[in-house]
Amino acid sequence: MIPEKAPSAVIVLAAGAGTRMKSRTPKILHEIGGRSMVGHALLAARSINPRQLAIVVRHERDLVAGHVADLDPAAVIVDQDDIPGTGRAVEAALQALDAEQLLTGTVVVTYGDVPLLSGQLLAELVATHEQEANAVTVLTAVLDDASGYGRILRGDDGTITGIREHKDATEAERLIREVNSGIYAFDADVLRNALGKVTTDNAQGEKYLTDVLGLAREAGGRVAAVVTADRWQVEGANDRVQLAALGAELNRRTVEAWMRAGVTVVDPATTWIDSSVTLDEDVRLLPNTQLHGATRVARDAVVGPDTTLTDVTVGEGAKVVRTHGSGSVIGAGAAVGPFTYLRPGTVLGESGKIGAFYETKNVTIGRGSKLSHLGYAGDAEIGEDTNIGCGNITANYDGQNKHRTVIGSGVRTGSNTVFVAPVTVGDGAYSGAGAVIRKDVPAGALALSIAAQRNTEGWVPANRPGTRSAELAQAATTDSSSTPASTEEGK
Ligand code: UD1
Ligand code: CA
Repeated sequence: MIPEKAPSAVIVLAAGAGTRMKSRTPKILHEIGGRSMVGHALLAARSINPRQLAIVVRHERDLVAGHVADLDPAAVIVDQDDIPGTGRAVEAALQALDAEQLLTGTVVVTYGDVPLLSGQLLAELVATHEQEANAVTVLTAVLDDASGYGRILRGDDGTITGIREHKDATEAERLIREVNSGIYAFDADVLRNALGKVTTDNAQGEKYLTDVLGLAREAGGRVAAVVTADRWQVEGANDRVQLAALGAELNRRTVEAWMRAGVTVVDPATTWIDSSVTLDEDVRLLPNTQLHGATRVARDAVVGPDTTLTDVTVGEGAKVVRTHGSGSVIGAGAAVGPFTYLRPGTVLGESGKIGAFYETKNVTIGRGSKLSHLGYAGDAEIGEDTNIGCGNITANYDGQNKHRTVIGSGVRTGSNTVFVAPVTVGDGAYSGAGAVIRKDVPAGALALSIAAQRNTEGWVPANRPGTRSAELAQAATTDSSSTPASTEEGK
């Protein structure tokens, strides 16, 4: 159901302390699916297009307000005063919003710590509220264990007469399993009038928002419920056990949605996908893969097993095996891994390769270029169809400053070449094994840095007598009595 018109406002309650998290981080800033709980709440609220969105803060006010401003700059931050309770929180928000223009129409209230609530269910709540012309419509669920929640009180004809908080409830009322989710659609006038009459005369000495239902009914308004069968959507996280359970459920839903959209997930239980990730059809995710942040994977790419990517773009048909990567771009048809560490700023061109035991950072690698085994490439630019030999290193840091290495196209470097930056290697150049490139190499040149090899014959038997090496050396040498002699390669 789509609401006929957008609600006037959504008010997100987020002033509570959340002490059971036992954390220096405010509860609603804890994350599941790569997004803070309040981030999920704000997205759901925004998705129903309210004309105004307010969030009520108090505990760790500045941290929460700063985070909200980053996520949703248009959200109105409202401070709650010393008077406790959900009713007081909503009253504060209404006063702030009314200050600009008196609110009329539908006002929705949600919580900052109920992260699985979907925009779709909120829209359904608003649509029901408006179609039935209710004064209040409350979202409820029927739970096996309702303890702690406010219970929904219904008359003999099934109409809602009020909500009783657990702490204020009688034994009989505590047997009721239909609970208040704390999420409602109100008529703005009804809400304003009722809140004016709510007292703190209850077991917790708080201004209860729940009292509005009884007051609305007394004033002749219709009070009704939308009962959801999906308890996860109304569940809050009060401690880290609940946070993990909600995180696992969110992930299960995210993974399932991607599978329905055409992504193969070999092992859903060990595949973790943030809410912000995007995947194309025919992507294959192998076991133990975690995709975070703004990661995007294009069609026919295979990621995993055992791979963690954060803010990485994977091109069409690329293969990424046992890789830990962040802030990187992997071109179409490229290959990465196994055991590869991609640090931010790595850009691998189409059909390129970064192979086993490679670390890269801030490097642009052209199409078809390969860094196949064992090395480090940082602060560098590599052209197209270049082959970087085994064990090559860019020595980019002199202890104080970072310097760039620029390597052209069609270059072939020998094993263990070290590029002492800043240095430039021209197109089509070669380097020999063990070359230490301190000076620029012109296009087409062969760079060798050869210190002649010196063999000191008989050194081991003379200096390590009695060792197994000495014994074997003696057995292998026909004349073992000669004095040690030196030979130099090339002489
Ligand atoms: C509230 C409801 C209860 C419902 C339950 C669902 C009331 C009186 N009770 O109970 O019927 O079953 O939620 O989870 O409303 N908050 C503020 N300011 C405050 C107090 C709370 O902003 O002064 C915010 C909290 O940050 C939280 C939400 O309101 O996001 C609910 O507060 P909480 O203390 O958890 O309410 P409950 O007692 O659990
Ligand atoms: Ca609660």
